[in-house]
Amino acid sequence: MNQFVFGSQWGDEGKGKIVDFLAAKADYTVRFHGGNNAGHTVIVGGKKYPFHLMPSGILNKKTIGIIGNGVIIDPEVLIKEIKQLQDEGMNVTKKLIISPRCHLIMPYHKALDEAYENARGKNKLGTTKRGIGPTFADKVSYNGIRLYELFSLVHFEEKFRFQAGIKNKILTLFGVAPIDVEKELEKFKEYRRILAPYVIDTFPLLMQASEKKKNILFEGAHGVMLDVDWGLYPYCTGSNVITGGINTGSGLPANKIDKIWAVVKAYTTRVGEGPVPTEFDDEVAHTIREQGHEYGTTTGRPRRIGWLDLEAVKFACQVTGANCLAITKTDILTGIKKIKVCTGYKLNGNKIPYSSCGYIELAKVEPIYKTFNGWKEDIHMVTKFNKLPKNCQVYLKFIEKFLKVRIKIVSTGPERERNIII
Ligand code: GDP
Ligand code: IMO
Ligand code: MG
Repeated sequence: MNQFVFGSQWGDEGKGKIVDFLAAKADYTVRFHGGNNAGHTVIVGGKKYPFHLMPSGILNKKTIGIIGNGVIIDPEVLIKEIKQLQDEGMNVTKKLIISPRCHLIMPYHKALDEAYENARGKNKLGTTKRGIGPTFADKVSYNGIRLYELFSLVHFEEKFRFQAGIKNKILTLFGVAPIDVEKELEKFKEYRRILAPYVIDTFPLLMQASEKKKNILFEGAHGVMLDVDWGLYPYCTGSNVITGGINTGSGLPANKIDKIWAVVKAYTTRVGEGPVPTEFDDEVAHTIREQGHEYGTTTGRPRRIGWLDLEAVKFACQVTGANCLAITKTDILTGIKKIKVCTGYKLNGNKIPYSSCGYIELAKVEPIYKTFNGWKEDIHMVTKFNKLPKNCQVYLKFIEKFLKVRIKIVSTGPERERNIII
């Protein structure tokens, strides 16, 4: 069976935790888009793993990790993650396969990301400054360099020198120091040596796995509200977060996906700029941020807090074809007296769907709220849905009914085993 786990909000829904849990039965755990702007936390045996490029299911003994062609790679970050797992005794060369078609995030991409952000001033987008936008821009304007070119040093050097030369001129225009081409080239030679054993064509492997009815688990990065087409452009990321991205980013046809899991955090968080209709910033938001440790996994920035926005999540479920829900962080709402949920938007007195909104409209919409009574009981140790506090059950049932998708997992804590399975 092939499954897809995606984030239905603005990222950080708890995808890493759910992927790690579901990967217990997966033969392959696959990243297919985005880059190391992603930060997916997995907690196993009391140890915390903040993965940026490593597929989150890889800690499961029999699961092979695949980094598909749609992922963009900062080799330095990937090598760090490989080393961390090696230090813990994992034979990573037997566990990880990387598509040679992946594009490389270059030092000049990171410098450009930062230079653009600084130049935007008050209109900054709040990117992770990991070079994501500039790398995807180079990919679609045929200026990118793919991983496999690193294994043909003559081609790589020629392209790198050409691209770095142009980018350095742009950086100079921004008033930023150019990158040191020779020094960087030496670093890439070292990256090439370390990464060589992992780089193998992933397409035949996935095709065979699918034909043999193996279990493949695709891990979405980010959230649908950050999708380059369906998110709040330009307050988005550079890749397609939705189901179709599996086809472009791994080669597996979209009709081979059986289960599509929407990960829904019981409230909203956002790192970076751009409108979030249900955002609020009071004592309750502060409590949620601290209890939920809502600080960016990649950048450490405090996450903005909002009530659950079901108008946005409903859209996310529709556009991806979600057929299962995994609700996370309901435990963080324990102790909050009144919990609000947005069930629609109004603009100038009229209802307007998420799909009709750009960032200009979304900054102005008025959320329509439904308010629920909270609960006081700690739910971390609860293992059955009907043992949850009544008000908590009412809250979750409302989400399910509104979205018309069944809840299959209620996550009750960050650790692998903290789940209610329905
Ligand atoms: P991702 O980017 O979607 O993988 O999410 P992040 O890892 O960036 O952020 C989610 C955070 O919430 C991480 O620190 C997780 O360990 C934690 N987490 C995930 N699910 C739960 C849950 O049900 N309850 C609690 N308390 N924490 C959770
Ligand atoms: P995970 O996978 C939260 C946001 C950034 C910024 C915008 C563009 O952990 O859910 P980028 O660096 O991608 O060009 O930044 O996208 N963003 C994320 N926010 N979680 C993420 O990933 C994100 N990946 C990108 O904060 O607003
Ligand atoms: Mg994250």
